[in-house]
Amino acid sequence: MSRVSRPVKFWTLTVLGGAALLVYLFATAPTALESAGSAKKTMSTQEALTLLALENDITRTLFTKEIVGKGKAHGLKFDEDWADEDVIAGPLPALFLRGVASQLAASDVPLGLFLGSDFPIESSNKFKDRQMDEFKAMRQDLLPKHFIDEATREHVSMFPDFASAGPCVSCHNEHARTSKSDWQLGDLMGATTWSYPSDSVTTDEFLAMLGEYRKGVEVVWSQYLAELEQLDPEMQPQIGDEWPSQGLFIPTHAALRDSIDRMANGALFLDLLNHATL
Ligand code: HEC
Repeated sequence: MSRVSRPVKFWTLTVLGGAALLVYLFATAPTALESAGSAKKTMSTQEALTLLALENDITRTLFTKEIVGKGKAHGLKFDEDWADEDVIAGPLPALFLRGVASQLAASDVPLGLFLGSDFPIESSNKFKDRQMDEFKAMRQDLLPKHFIDEATREHVSMFPDFASAGPCVSCHNEHARTSKSDWQLGDLMGATTWSYPSDSVTTDEFLAMLGEYRKGVEVVWSQYLAELEQLDPEMQPQIGDEWPSQGLFIPTHAALRDSIDRMANGALFLDLLNHATL
């Protein structure tokens, strides 16, 4: 049991550990947004990346458990070649994230996102150099790592990526190209690795980062819905407010967004952000 709750415990500690940040967001962000103070560097990049990593973790876990996990029971397919024209399927969780990362790379916001591991399925996802050293330290203490990459001068934050749902473990263990086949629920499987050029950001810059992340999710979601439209009519899920746990359904982007927001409400800061115009 305690293994299963590790991701939840991790984020609770990480975000509550940043209580000063939450106070900042509630107490001062609206004023900062109203007054032209938004040009002031108001948040460390480390704090900004921590909040993004929480939003990403919620999105990813929801997708893995409720869409991939439950959707499979209704015959929905998820494939690593989902982007190929002749493959009609949804993205695997890692490729969902890579889709969002590509959208970020194409945007004006200089935010980098990479999911790596020491025992990857895909060899290009293996950490190298400084990131591998930091990941080795993370294996010991399971804590996020924040540092400046000597090669790029970028500020990097690495966050543990835990096996938070059954499908993470079964799919990785059984994959033909896996480099490790004894993953267990709760294990540290890799790290989401974020990078940004400066050491601090303004409120506006942070909202732009979060906005681009969310836009990336929306783009990947619309690509997924377009795949589903190509299925034979009797295989097609109904797209609406309902989820695969209720039958052959897939939520619209708005319904997905609602659920992410509801889950993130534990970390109250998102309430505030959702009221800001993104
Ligand atoms: C249905 C199969 C499947 C599921 C479910 C799945 N993965 Fe993966 N995962 C993959 C594949 C395939 C890759 C390699 C994709 C690529 O980059 O081409 C991958 C990549 C990764 C990577 C990057 C390192 C690597 O192995 O290449 C991490 C870390 C990772 N997954 C963790 C997770 C976690 C945590 C979950 C659950 C939240 C999860 N995966 C769910 C198949 C899966």
